Amino acid sequence: MSSNSSSSVTGSPLSLIAEVTHRCPLHCLYCSNPVEMQRAESELSTDDWRRVFQQAAEMGVLHLHLTGGEPLARRDLPELIRAGREAGLYVNMITSGVGLTEERLATLVEAGLEHLQLSFQDLDEVSANHIAGTKAHAIKLALVPVLKRFPLAFTINLVVHRMNLDRLEEFIALAEDLNPDRLEIAHVQYYGWALKNRSLLMPTEDQVQRSLPIVDAARQRLKGRIHLEAVFPDYFGSFPKACVGGWGRQMMLIDPAGQALPCHSAAIIPGLSFDTVREHDLAWIWESSSAFQRFRGDAWMSPTCLACPRKEQDFGGCRCQAFLMTGDPDAIDPVCSYSPHHGLLQSLRVSDPEVLPIWRG
Ligand code: FES
Repeated sequence: MSSNSSSSVTGSPLSLIAEVTHRCPLHCLYCSNPVEMQRAESELSTDDWRRVFQQAAEMGVLHLHLTGGEPLARRDLPELIRAGREAGLYVNMITSGVGLTEERLATLVEAGLEHLQLSFQDLDEVSANHIAGTKAHAIKLALVPVLKRFPLAFTINLVVHRMNLDRLEEFIALAEDLNPDRLEIAHVQYYGWALKNRSLLMPTEDQVQRSLPIVDAARQRLKGRIHLEAVFPDYFGSFPKACVGGWGRQMMLIDPAGQALPCHSAAIIPGLSFDTVREHDLAWIWESSSAFQRFRGDAWMSPTCLACPRKEQDFGGCRCQAFLMTGDPDAIDPVCSYSPHHGLLQSLRVSDPEVLPIWRG
């Protein structure tokens, strides 16, 4: 029996993803928020979040990612940041930047904000605003020099797909000019709203192949200056990603209403029920919640995965993707070339630029 065979907890989570609201001024075609979003009235209070952050720090969590929706939609954001910092967490905010003035940013940095992540939808304004469903591109560009006036680490995230992948070289050059500490080039992952828009966003094989040396060249060029991370498009892969670092291994996500999820998409998997931080403390949820136990360890895996040494690297791949592609959340992730469903990927790589876009509500 392997050391990873049980569903027992192997350690503390490293990261807490706090979706403090699902409200957002952007309506991105690929938003990873659930299609059924939590309403503002059901959001956790400041005190609820303060308690959660303290419990997270006591468990050994290191990183707090404040995200949404748009965290700036919360009026109590400085208090939330301060609560995370006072608990001893490293506080990152993932934001569109819409509504972030220099004055407001000063308040957030003074409260303890240490890192900020800004996503760009494209390099030209018309296309970027089209993908975001609102006029946000110029605001983001104008925000970058303001960020530089503060002691704040800064990541730029470029989300790529069929509609912008042909401009990847110029897109990276734009990010390079903005001189972040980190650059993420992330292919769209097909969950939530991106799944609804899959055929619109799906790159062609040719686009993907042409993008790979561009990313490699950027990695070499930026070495020692900007740390680059790239997320490969699953549908063109041969082995699955270690989604969320393995189910129930590294991170917890708390949605705006306080439900604790092992990944941002877990609610799509039938039969899972999610405990809430209103009723349980975080350590209990991490150790005992049935949702976190469901795919922890390897007891749930197929004989193929159990016998595969890669299970220590990919932890069985993505459960949400296995369910979405096969209807069975226990199935081998079809991205894996050992999956009997691997051929499905070919048929799902359907690109249709004419299909009508569906923007996040
Ligand atoms: Fe849920 Fe990958 S998104 S396990």
